[in-house]
Amino acid sequence: MKVLVIGGGGREHALVWALRRSGRVTEVVCAPGNGGVASLARCEALDVADVTALTDLVERESPGLVVIGPEVPLAAGAVDALQERGVRVFGPTRAAAQLETSKGFAKEFMRRWEIPTAAYAVCHSAEIVRGALEKFGGRVVVKADGLAAGKGVVLCESHGEAIAAAEEMFSGSLLGAAVESLVLEEMLDGPEISFFAVCDGTRAIALAAAQDHKRIGEGDTGPNTGGMGAYSTDDLISAETSAWMRGVAQKVVDGMRAEGTPFAGILFTGFMMTASGPKVLEFNTRFGDPETEAIMLRLETDLVDIIEAAVDGRVGDIAVRLKPGASACVIAASHGYPGKYVGGKLILGLDHVNADVEVFHAGTALQDREIVTAGGRVLAITAVGGDLRDALAKAYGALELISFEGMQYRRDIGWRALE
Ligand code: AMP
Ligand code: GLY
Repeated sequence: MKVLVIGGGGREHALVWALRRSGRVTEVVCAPGNGGVASLARCEALDVADVTALTDLVERESPGLVVIGPEVPLAAGAVDALQERGVRVFGPTRAAAQLETSKGFAKEFMRRWEIPTAAYAVCHSAEIVRGALEKFGGRVVVKADGLAAGKGVVLCESHGEAIAAAEEMFSGSLLGAAVESLVLEEMLDGPEISFFAVCDGTRAIALAAAQDHKRIGEGDTGPNTGGMGAYSTDDLISAETSAWMRGVAQKVVDGMRAEGTPFAGILFTGFMMTASGPKVLEFNTRFGDPETEAIMLRLETDLVDIIEAAVDGRVGDIAVRLKPGASACVIAASHGYPGKYVGGKLILGLDHVNADVEVFHAGTALQDREIVTAGGRVLAITAVGGDLRDALAKAYGALELISFEGMQYRRDIGWRALE
């Protein structure tokens, strides 16, 4: 079978890598892909936000299966457009993707279906924010309603900070475009867990749990990024917590079905493990990045079997098996990320890395047959091991062999688990 993967980051490189391992896949095409993906798949140029360009590409390639990586095409209605043409596509429709694309929709959905989450208020003006703040403690979170590539969430230590953030969101000065509404939330404390479920519209099964490191700085300090590293271990969450989290995913699938917008694809729930139990921070309707890099290395079940079961409405028939032990992924990023950075830096040492480490490319390009940087997050260095220490030692060992001008990475991935 020929599979088309949409996207061009480390997540898509890892998905392409896993698909190429399947005995059932004869060819993988990736659009747009990147400098690393090009060694495993034919890359075709594509603006992932352009649904017409995507349907044209699918018509030309006629793949047996389309796998969508990022949220942007989901929000643009790529799945709806492909399903109308009878294409087998993995991912939620635009209406179902609202769980990710609208924070307000997600919060009200959780209220309707009694899913534990932080107390909140949906506000349409700074005036309403001022009034609503009275019901909250001093520490609150202000979230723009809509996709903002990780920049739409501001953690505020006081009501004054919250009002300032809200005013900047409504005026457009914070995100470049004015928001129409935002969500005000009580601030929760605790470690975060990313839980991935595979859904077919009717059922949700567990894929894996992982922990992401969102902040740029060691010790989880500094601004939020897309994710600076991730790991997955057998004992990250207990069997009981895992079953409970799967139950939340099932509740989501039941609720979406009952509301006439069935959810199929990956449901990625971000949980915070608070003193009063796990609470949902957010839903994403796609694979996480860099969690996927870590998870794909542990996945023993054929990824195509899992995805096809979801597309065909029979995830109940699938048993997901993971390699015992652990995996870890460390991101090498450009100088200046998550702010401004300059691309085009030559990457050295990629050939020196041991075969037991996978270097997934997050933002690279091929230039005159050399691999150069082409993104904020550049490489996702990923390894499996008997335990987390072992996986981390392999990933960091490989990182020492790689260099590019301005390369930065966190040296403390997995610190919570190791403590
Ligand atoms: P979100 O996109 O909603 O997941 O928010 C991005 C990040 O902001 C999360 O991964 C958390 O680290 C943090 N965050 C979001 N909501 C809260 C909250 N209610 N309390 C504390 N931290 C939060
Ligand atoms: N790693 C977080 C995300 O993919 O949104």
